[in-house]
Formats: sequence, structure tokens, C-alpha cells
Amino acid sequence: MLERRRDSGGQVPSSTIGKSTIHVVSKSAPDYGLDAPGIVHKCLISRGLGICAGALLVWRGHHILLWLGALVVLVSLVLLAKGLLIIYYAKVSKFRCRDRILDFIEWNGQETVLDVGTGRGLLIGAAKRTTGRVVGIDLWSQEDLSDNREENTMANAVLEGVADRIEAHNQNAQHRHFPHSCFDVVISNPCLHNIPTPRGRKQACSEIVRVLKPGEVAVISDFTACEEYERAFAASGCQVALLSRINFLPPLRVVRAQKPQLR
Ligand SMILES: C[S@@+](CC[C@H](N)C(=O)[O-])C[C@H]1O[C@@H](n2cnc3c(N)ncnc32)[C@H](O)[C@@H]1O
Repeated sequence: MLERRRDSGGQVPSSTIGKSTIHVVSKSAPDYGLDAPGIVHKCLISRGLGICAGALLVWRGHHILLWLGALVVLVSLVLLAKGLLIIYYAKVSKFRCRDRILDFIEWNGQETVLDVGTGRGLLIGAAKRTTGRVVGIDLWSQEDLSDNREENTMANAVLEGVADRIEAHNQNAQHRHFPHSCFDVVISNPCLHNIPTPRGRKQACSEIVRVLKPGEVAVISDFTACEEYERAFAASGCQVALLSRINFLPPLRVVRAQKPQLR
């Protein structure tokens, strides 16, 4: 469980999760990391090289080589723009997407919330809408998110003033950790596609339904496999809607699933 406290000098906010203490000394603004950092970095380097090679051909080449160079520059620029849009998403539009996901829920201010694959603190947005317990689970994969660590999640929570209400746990979305029907809301933002098999993704959806209270709602956003989640939730008896896109790149869509009421 969490506890927020001041160090002896009273200057440095700190927070404890279990036995570990997080000191927030160097950052003044929360940082939610870059999604798929390896892919983005490779994309920027290869497109940059493409632009340089194409420009060289345009400069030095004649006839076909000149046109080929122009084509290489053009294609590299388009692909570079894709990489830049993903950086823009991570730094700017992720917050807008988070708020749009949270807007699909009718909050009463007392919900307990589970964020599946929370990364560096997407659950913080939820903690601002409820006074209930907000729990994030993650495997803290460095491939999926830069500097992905529980301490960074909690450091963001301290900076945003919600550390006393959130918990972060190292847990796999496919496994059973929580009792039946213990959350009022479950959210998840591009996480479930990282589970490598359809069976595993289905298992994660069943787990989400299992921990939701009857009649309550899960809102899952992802840029792929949304139809799979839709089918898995429907198979678990939920009322499901595949909602509109909430972002251009990555092209995030939202699945909203409501667990049936007890009869
Ligand atoms: C692209 S990041 C998104 C993080 C965060 N939801 C956000 O929007 O910034 C995907 C996250 O899912 C986590 N993840 C991947 N597979 C998981 C699994 N099986 N169980 C729990 N978390 C997982 C990764 O560690 C990573 O933090």
C-alpha cells in the first residue's frame, strides 16, 4: 500500500510502495515515456539516412538517379513523419486520449479502478476523477515504453498530487491477482496487443471481466486486435460496443464492455 510523506528537510516529495521509496528531485513535470522507443529510434535513424542518401542522389545524379533520389527523399519524409507523429502522441496527444477514454465512463467519484498495462502512470488521470483506490498493473517492459519502471509511475503520481491514492503492481494482465468483482472500472491503453497469442489476449479480457463488478464498465483502447477484444468480451456475456477512433497515429480505437448485472 502507498503512503506519501515529506523527507526530513521538508523539501523533497517522496512516496513509498511497500518497502521502496521514490524521491522526486530532478523533474518538475510528469513524463509518461515514449511508446515502442526502439522502433521509433530505428525509424528516425533509417529515415534520416534515407533523406541524406536521396538528397545526395538528387545533388549528384542525372536522369534516372536524380528521380530515384527524389523518390527516396519523398518516401523517407513520409515515413519520418510517421515516427514524429508517434513522438507527438507520446508527448502531447496521449493525455487527450487518456481523457477521452475516461470520458466513456460515467463517474460518481467513488469508483475503484484497475488500469491494465499502466506504464508510467496512465492511471493518474483516473485518480483525478475518483477518490477510490486506483490500481495499475504492468510488466514494466522497456521495449513497450521508455524508462518503464514502477518508480517512474509513482514519481509522476507524486508530481500530480495523487500518490496517496494509487498503487502500482508488477503483474501480468493474463493472470489472476484480484478477487472476483472488486473493481468499478477497468481501463487499458495500448497494452493487450503486446500479449503474443490470441488465446492470451482472450484470457486477459476474461480476467478483466472477472474482476469487474456486475453492471460495471471496462474501456480498452488499442490500435490493433480490437475486434478480438470485442468478441472475447461478448463471449464473457458483456454488452460490447466498438467505438470510434480516438487518435490518428497510432490509430487508437476503443472497446467498451459492460458486465451483465446479477440476476
Ligand atoms: C505501449 S505501453 C502503454 C503504457 C500506458 N498504458 C500508456 O498508454 O502510456 C504498453 C504497456 O503494457 C505493458 N504490458 C505488456 N504486456 C503486458 C502484460 N501481459 N501484462 C501487463 N502489462 C503488460 C508494458 O509493460 C507497457 O507498460
